[in-house]
Amino acid sequence: MANRPILVLPDPRLRAIADPIDKIDDSIRQLALDMLETMYEAPGIGLAAPQIGELRRIVVMDLAKEDEPRDPVVMINPEILKFSDETVVTEEGCLSIPELYYEVERPAEVTVRYTDLEGRTVEREATERLAICVQHELDHLDGVLYIDYLSRLKRDRVLKKFQKAEKLARRAS
Ligand code: NI
Repeated sequence: MANRPILVLPDPRLRAIADPIDKIDDSIRQLALDMLETMYEAPGIGLAAPQIGELRRIVVMDLAKEDEPRDPVVMINPEILKFSDETVVTEEGCLSIPELYYEVERPAEVTVRYTDLEGRTVEREATERLAICVQHELDHLDGVLYIDYLSRLKRDRVLKKFQKAEKLARRAS
């Protein structure tokens, strides 16, 4: 496994649409392992392939609590079949937008369908934190970031902060 660098705003690859995966081969299995290692190392509870510059439709997550054994989930070509009408407001963060957290309103429950690493089709009702994580990670596959749900004022403030940081980093290198 290899820990891979995580892209940070305003990297344009975070805004790209990822391609479907048509075959689960060794390269996809390796990608999934790299993503899990990168996520655990960060540490984070979810990671989408575009966040490490791979424009493929695959996400990983692990919502186990600190005192519980690891519970890695790999979703290939995931899609949400159903959103609940009921919504919930939770605080979200993103490894590609480090050190910031904002409240976002989303459907409270979703039904997600995906292919697992063994090639099986899985359909799963996601509630609570899993429902939010699924929506957040799947958005990444379509170039959508959670800050897109904030007010324009807040979003622009975040974007400016990261654009400035990128400029300073470029000047320093
Ligand atoms: Ni994210």
